[in-house]
Amino acid sequence: MSFLDLAKKRYSCRAYSDRKVEKEKLELILEAGRVAPTAKNLQPQRLIVVQEKEGFEKISKAANIYNAPLAIIVCADKNTAWVRPFDQKQVEDIDASIVTDHMMLEAAELGLDSVWICYFKPDVIRAEFGLPDNLVPVNILAIGYGSGEPKSPARFDEARKPLSETVFFERLR
Ligand SMILES: Cc1cc2nc3c(=O)[nH]c(=O)nc-3n(C[C@H](O)[C@H](O)[C@H](O)COP(=O)(O)O)c2cc1C
Repeated sequence: MSFLDLAKKRYSCRAYSDRKVEKEKLELILEAGRVAPTAKNLQPQRLIVVQEKEGFEKISKAANIYNAPLAIIVCADKNTAWVRPFDQKQVEDIDASIVTDHMMLEAAELGLDSVWICYFKPDVIRAEFGLPDNLVPVNILAIGYGSGEPKSPARFDEARKPLSETVFFERLR
């Protein structure tokens, strides 16, 4: 499958079956995240993999993960991430999101479904998982086998803006 076909096959899944994610698949997903690029190769990501009831109970106080059987809480160490010297911009969210995207697309390649979640209470995730102050919970990636109809790869004509609205050549107009 070409990369573009894979990117169009992926969709945000919000209903999952009980089927667990195989250990071998989880390992490949984590490997895809490991090889993701990060600024200056500083690799500030710290991932918490949740597959047990106790962890899901903690997450449920902070977020809806749609009963997915696997959740990866993607955190970033703000003391490790690169800082752009010109404006002090910290890039831990960017790094963590590239890691998340790599894992999400690897999951799609493995026949799994997923949804990227930012709608969570960070203070609750912090407290429940005992995160130190330097660790920022950035994303939760919920993964499993979807129980409903997958969204069509043909949906993008309507589901995304045309390039003419978002891409500009040589000057912004
Ligand atoms: C940064 C980010 C945050 C998101 N947060 C949530 C979320 O909290 N809950 C949710 O159900 N979907 C969330 N999504 C999924 C988007 O709503 C979804 O990707 C978008 O509507 C496009 O739909 P598609 O993924 O099916 O193509 C998030 C996606 C991104 C990239």
